[in-house]
Amino acid sequence: MCGIVGFTGINQAAPILLDGLSKLEYRGYDSAGIAVRDGSAEAEIVKAKGKLKVLREMTNDGNAVTGTCGIGHTRWATHGEPSTLNSHPHSSDDGNVIAVHNGIIENYQELRAKLIKKGYVFHSQTDTEVAVKLVDYYYKKYLGTPVDALNHALVRIRGSYALAVMFRDYPEEIYAARKDSPMIIGIKDGESYLASDVPAILKYTRNVYYIGNLELARLTKGNVIFFNLDGEEIQKEMKTIEWDAEAAEKGGYEHFMLKEIHEQPKVVQDTINSVMKNGTISFDSVGLTDEDMRSIQQIYIVACGSAYHVGVAAQYVIESLTSVNVRVELASEFRYRKMKLIPDSLMIVISQSGETADTLAALRMAKDTGIKTLGIVNVVGSSIAREADNVLYTLAGPEISVATTKAYSCQLVAGYLLALQFAKARGEITDARFDQLLAEINTIPEKIQKILDDDKERIQWYSAKIVNIKDAFFIGRGIDYAIGMEGSLKLKEISYIHSEAYAAGELKHGPISLIEDNTVVFSIATQRDLYEKTVSNMVEVKSRGAKLFGLTTYGNYAMEDTADFTVYIPKIDDLFAGSLSVIPLQLLSYHVSVGKGFDVDKPRNLAKSVTVE
Ligand code: G6P
Repeated sequence: MCGIVGFTGINQAAPILLDGLSKLEYRGYDSAGIAVRDGSAEAEIVKAKGKLKVLREMTNDGNAVTGTCGIGHTRWATHGEPSTLNSHPHSSDDGNVIAVHNGIIENYQELRAKLIKKGYVFHSQTDTEVAVKLVDYYYKKYLGTPVDALNHALVRIRGSYALAVMFRDYPEEIYAARKDSPMIIGIKDGESYLASDVPAILKYTRNVYYIGNLELARLTKGNVIFFNLDGEEIQKEMKTIEWDAEAAEKGGYEHFMLKEIHEQPKVVQDTINSVMKNGTISFDSVGLTDEDMRSIQQIYIVACGSAYHVGVAAQYVIESLTSVNVRVELASEFRYRKMKLIPDSLMIVISQSGETADTLAALRMAKDTGIKTLGIVNVVGSSIAREADNVLYTLAGPEISVATTKAYSCQLVAGYLLALQFAKARGEITDARFDQLLAEINTIPEKIQKILDDDKERIQWYSAKIVNIKDAFFIGRGIDYAIGMEGSLKLKEISYIHSEAYAAGELKHGPISLIEDNTVVFSIATQRDLYEKTVSNMVEVKSRGAKLFGLTTYGNYAMEDTADFTVYIPKIDDLFAGSLSVIPLQLLSYHVSVGKGFDVDKPRNLAKSVTVE
């Protein structure tokens, strides 16, 4: 997500910080800032909304900012819109503590309220300003070292963080701490660097330390000491980075798509955590109240591409758990349909970018008719995020690959959480079933991880066998059909293989005439009550010469009697199986595309964000 760079040494810091940040630009960001100290003088903080270019112009490429110790940051908004005020570094009002932060502090509202009672004033909407002022509070309360203050603060913070902090009393030093957000420290003669990602410092040094979870570091010029949460010194081994600069940008993965596929356990967990409070779902931050949910008679879900496929899956989940009818529409169709919208209805628009022209137009139409609107959006401050009445953010972080994977998975899980909360607010689910389903949702990240750990090689092997196919069909029923639509789109968009998704029951109404010897049919059968019916459809195409890829749940081993190649997903409530079954399909299209030698991250003719009709 965001990028962090830090430097203390002999040379001027600001140009090094700006250079390091420019190496992290590929991650996506909406604002940037630096804080630099010249000896024991107060830090100079320069920050600006927009591209690094703005910051470069403001500081004459950093040359106008004197000092040899500093921290820098590129921000991808999660709390509060992209703005100069919300951008990092943040400082305590007296300049005692200055920091940049990556990650998400889940209990920031609670901590903010506590600090306000102690007399702190907040100027931004960020969770980072809360972290800075919490560290400042403990530093002054216990009059200890920076490490003591950080430790006091960190045990009170829930969530993830990589923090780089400067204390006024400790010139030319930087303190770092991390939990679940990456951070590395690089050392060279008389110089120390820190960064959230390798490319930022690769030009200067290849000698790095990986700071572990719940560990702290104190950087002085050319030296670093590590501490645990008890403030005890710990020893770490220096490593040498072998990657070249390009591989480093992708975190060692060959392509952004593969990197993003592997980020899914984390970002799905972040999205779940963003609406969890005291062990249950809370939509306080979304603004949609239980009262609103009770009064809604109809839901329209409107979106494009993969986001539309999320809508199709969410429709099955919402309709199974509640009495609300759901209608899912392609935004490009919906906007020209002269249909009467039911007054007590909710329109949910789903969009990674928040800028898709058709989706935005549909949202505006709904607003004109006066119905309530909710955006499920990834980009904070985007047009849809600004214009929808309520927003449920997915916390996928910037997605670079054109073919979406992690944003899709986050949207899907956002749909589940919404469905569950609707059911609860409307009294249509027992407490026990609610708790059980919420617990199941919380198992999704680890189960995605298991698929990534266990199935990667088998899928790669199978993909190599099918690289030359000309046509593919994806079949399934219910939620499996929705996932088939996404699997089929993934395959066609990056490997240019003609592919169609059909509801398995529709095969006999036409598509079956296309089945020839060796036509590959990807069959998804995770839904218990529909399993046998889908298997019957598989047998029908097999008897006409099709080669079958079967995707089902562990335990359904009889699938191997029918399918030529079977992939199993961990057991989970049927409603949420899509979050798991989509993973092998993402891996499959990725490997087929790589096998064909295509530019996986930038498929021909496609754009990441479609802002024209
Ligand atoms: C483009 C992208 C797709 C995406 C669709 C909708 O076609 O390539 O991955 O699903 O737009 O984009 P949105 O930003 O609204 O989710």
